[in-house]
Amino acid sequence: DEVGGIRASLLKWYDANKRDLPWRRINHDDDGDDETERDRKAYGVWVSEIMLQQTRVQTVISYFNRWMEKWPTVHHLAQASIEEVNEMWAGLGYYRRARFLLEGAKMIVEEGGQFPRSVNDLRKVKGIGEYTAGAIASIAFNEAVPVVDGNVVRVIARLKTISANPKDTATVKNIWRLAGQLVDLDRPGDFNQALMELGATLCTPLSPSCSSCPVSAQCGALSESKRNPSMLVTDY
Ligand code: ADE
Repeated sequence: DEVGGIRASLLKWYDANKRDLPWRRINHDDDGDDETERDRKAYGVWVSEIMLQQTRVQTVISYFNRWMEKWPTVHHLAQASIEEVNEMWAGLGYYRRARFLLEGAKMIVEEGGQFPRSVNDLRKVKGIGEYTAGAIASIAFNEAVPVVDGNVVRVIARLKTISANPKDTATVKNIWRLAGQLVDLDRPGDFNQALMELGATLCTPLSPSCSSCPVSAQCGALSESKRNPSMLVTDY
């Protein structure tokens, strides 16, 4: 079916083309029996996703590496002072994000030190919203939940030919719903990262590389612009 085709093509593309990023190197076996490794993965995903919310990947890499060297686990971070955390954050801006990481780490350690494993429990941590909760739950704990950032909004709007204003709350809500139907049930974390990566690298706002796109055959916007050349893929 169409959803199955989108999932398979996107995952195949991601396996061959994913960027080698430091937070993707923290690996866990998939049996779920090594809790410590899984929590390390979750912690790395959390730190990287918070950093990536306002900052480009290329800038985040060195900040992430320095952060993880100083505070390799949530337990280490919980012992840090706000001054140390702010100093480490210097240059990234939006210092509230750093404070939330510290407060969240303290909260997690106070409640036993195990990382919350579901979107619902992750949402209870200070500073973790729907996006970050979805990223941690899907990437570290294989929960089949969607993750929608600005890139994913554009990718899904084009795939599904949604021309409504992508800044509208109702449109974004609809896209979260569609992303939830699309997410691969076996590899939700890779699938979500593939959508983000596609939006960041090929399905770009102004001149998307449709000829290299793994899901061009399923793309509503592309077929629309072929049928009606005055409709551009970039209108979506
Ligand atoms: N942008 C933000 N988080 C990302 C991730 N995990 N993979 C790809 N792009 C991202």
